[in-house]
Amino acid sequence: MLQRFTDTFMKDVNLGVMLIGLDYTVISVNEKACAILGCGREQMIRRPVDDIFAAVPEQHRLVQRTMLDGVIVRNHAVSWTNHDRRYDLLLDSNVLRDPGGRIVGAYVMFKDVTNLRSLEAQVQRSDRLAMIGQIAAGTAHEIRNPLTSIKGFLQLLRATFEQREMAKERSFTDVMLSEIDRINELVSEFLLLSKQKEALLAEVDIQHVLRGILPIIESEALLHNCEVQYEPLPSVPPVTADQEMLKQVFLNICKNGIEAMPDGGILTIAEKLDQGDRKLLIDIRDTGPGIPLFLVDKIFDPFFTTKEHGTGLGLSVCQRIIHDIGGTIRVSSKGYGTTFTIGIPFS
Ligand SMILES: Nc1ncnc2c1ncn2[C@@H]1O[C@H](COP(=O)(O)OP(=O)(O)O)[C@@H](O)[C@H]1O
Ligand SMILES: [Mg+2]
Repeated sequence: MLQRFTDTFMKDVNLGVMLIGLDYTVISVNEKACAILGCGREQMIRRPVDDIFAAVPEQHRLVQRTMLDGVIVRNHAVSWTNHDRRYDLLLDSNVLRDPGGRIVGAYVMFKDVTNLRSLEAQVQRSDRLAMIGQIAAGTAHEIRNPLTSIKGFLQLLRATFEQREMAKERSFTDVMLSEIDRINELVSEFLLLSKQKEALLAEVDIQHVLRGILPIIESEALLHNCEVQYEPLPSVPPVTADQEMLKQVFLNICKNGIEAMPDGGILTIAEKLDQGDRKLLIDIRDTGPGIPLFLVDKIFDPFFTTKEHGTGLGLSVCQRIIHDIGGTIRVSSKGYGTTFTIGIPFS
């Protein structure tokens, strides 16, 4: 029975298992271990561990020589790359002893926790978002109220300077006013992130929303010598969302696209239906330089920006809004041009 259990366990268990002999060779290895390590069983059985891991520096090997000396390892986190797949593993190892207590070998067991690790990263991300939300909720109004009076008095000053033909002073007030607008914009994005604004969910016609903001996008595009193309479907099903927030999402992403094309280009907004997933997909495509692979993971992080005057909040706001209505935002960028795909579930 015990032998049966051992055989079945080695085959069925969702762990990589290796048995190591006293001479530091592999005695046995299960399929899961082979799959994670990326070697066939015949390449490992009876071979010295040092040969199998020859290409890996000593401290990164899954199997350490010290384990034969009785060093017990529990829940040791290691990462392992097999071809181009990266695994996060949790590893246990211990020695095996005969009835007399002498060490006769050792075992290593490792569990693939790659998905858990990315979950952990997601949780950390939403923690950070929640923290920003709290800070924002506490301070946004405190910043906005004094700004309103500063702005009001500056506008008075500006009018006076203009009357007295003090051009230089007037230009200073212009700069100050536009900087105040920038702070106000930042605070608005903060407030959106903090969910201070209640979403007003209703049935929304996406084409109506897109047609409504098209003039704003077009005028922004004109400033950057870009062209805008809207490719609507003949008709689309309604979605449940907050119309104003959706506008903000489309505007943010279109603005990013236009800003990515300082020397002109084409911004395309296209619609698709994913009947399988029951989602309406809106592609926003630009012909800019694309997003380098090593930055793609970061662009949704709050405050991540590559722009001199960027806030880095645009995409995190978009993501929050879209996730709240059960949608998705995907980005694909292959060297040339970038496509953001916003998926919104329809009923
Ligand atoms: N269409 C795009 N093409 C290239 N890079 C982009 C595009 N959209 C976003 N990015 C990158 O993502 C970053 C974050 O965008 P966002 O959150 O909107 O903040 P911001 O626009 O203030 O920088 C940008 O600074 C830019 O590096
Ligand atoms: Mg932006």
